[in-house]
Amino acid sequence: MEKPLLKTNCPNFSSGPCAKRPGWSAYALENALLGRSHRSKEGKARLQEVSDRMKKVLKLPEDYRIGVVAGSDTGAVELAMWTLLGPRPVDIFGWESFGKGWITDAVKFLKLPSVNEYKADYGKLPDLNKANFANDVIFTFNGTTSGVKVPNLDWIPANREGLTICDATSAVFAMEIDFTKLDVVTFSWQKVLGGEAAHGVIILSPRAVKRMEENELKTSWPVPKIFRLAAEGKLKPGELEYNTVNTPSMLCVEDAIDALKWAETVRGLSGLIWRSNANLEAFEEWVAKSDWIDFLAESKEIRSNTSVCFKIKADWFQKLSDEEKTKAAKKITSLLDKEGVAYDINSYGKAPAGLRVWCGATVETSDIKKLIPWLDWAYETVAKEYSKEAVK
Ligand SMILES: Cc1ncc(COP(=O)(O)O)c(C=O)c1O
Repeated sequence: MEKPLLKTNCPNFSSGPCAKRPGWSAYALENALLGRSHRSKEGKARLQEVSDRMKKVLKLPEDYRIGVVAGSDTGAVELAMWTLLGPRPVDIFGWESFGKGWITDAVKFLKLPSVNEYKADYGKLPDLNKANFANDVIFTFNGTTSGVKVPNLDWIPANREGLTICDATSAVFAMEIDFTKLDVVTFSWQKVLGGEAAHGVIILSPRAVKRMEENELKTSWPVPKIFRLAAEGKLKPGELEYNTVNTPSMLCVEDAIDALKWAETVRGLSGLIWRSNANLEAFEEWVAKSDWIDFLAESKEIRSNTSVCFKIKADWFQKLSDEEKTKAAKKITSLLDKEGVAYDINSYGKAPAGLRVWCGATVETSDIKKLIPWLDWAYETVAKEYSKEAVK
């Protein structure tokens, strides 16, 4: 196969930080409130604006709270775990690196006395029906490192006793989420919005706010100041929305406002979801005809439309050792990197060797379509090299 002629317009397919929105430039930030206090009237107004815009685009229930916290998505998840857990046993579902990381937090660091672990290997989902909703339940909406998402939230009852805590960082703004089924939702702007990292966002249901208020000072572990949203047993109405525990980057806030304004130009949430789905569909058409590549997710209903993970099914590749597989997959991705058509598309370090291409809303479907022949070309180039070695 000849080298394709047409290069991608934007070669950024990393699964985080993800591609900026189409047309982004640093001019989008020229009105950022820089050199000013985030606690000034204007600073609070920007924070309130970003909270209001997120709430509007996501169509959050009116009585849910939303705010910016430190430490990107990890900061938001750990804030939730450190401040809310304790009163009930915990059920945790993990099926890839990040979800399993929250199990480590609960067992080894918070040393919770009663944790039920439900794990599955890369490509699979554990049995979600095992969740006991008298307990607190923790899970990721989309496993970014395996490309496996929950198909829906039908398995969560409306009248649960425990809280549901969901790390939804690579799902929010790209997938339908019934927020009434979730008490805590976390994400970071760096994913589907193509915003900046460093800040996380936390969404709290009224029951999660109540738990946070009641649980203050009751945990058997220390809670760092950076996690303490409630003060003296109160998370004051509205305050999370315009206040932050410590100093946020108003540059990042401005960038998130810009991304949310762009989101409105593509018809808001439904447009964002549509864009991600269109990207996945372009890949699905290709995979259906391919003799060398397949999705890592074992069925369509759990296949991510953001972090799309691929395995290489070709015989010669399957015969390699794990170490050799990683090397061969990296040869493919570095060819594409060198050509400037796709950056950062290796599979995650701890995941099976393969490829991972971000398909979130900021990625143009025209670029996915331009990338596909390049993937075939890079694969063929590397496959030829290996078959020559086999002949030697
Ligand atoms: C599911 C999931 N959780 C947590 C994280 C960590 O996110 P951050 O680096 O924004 O803290 C990631 C990052 O890719 C992720 O995909």
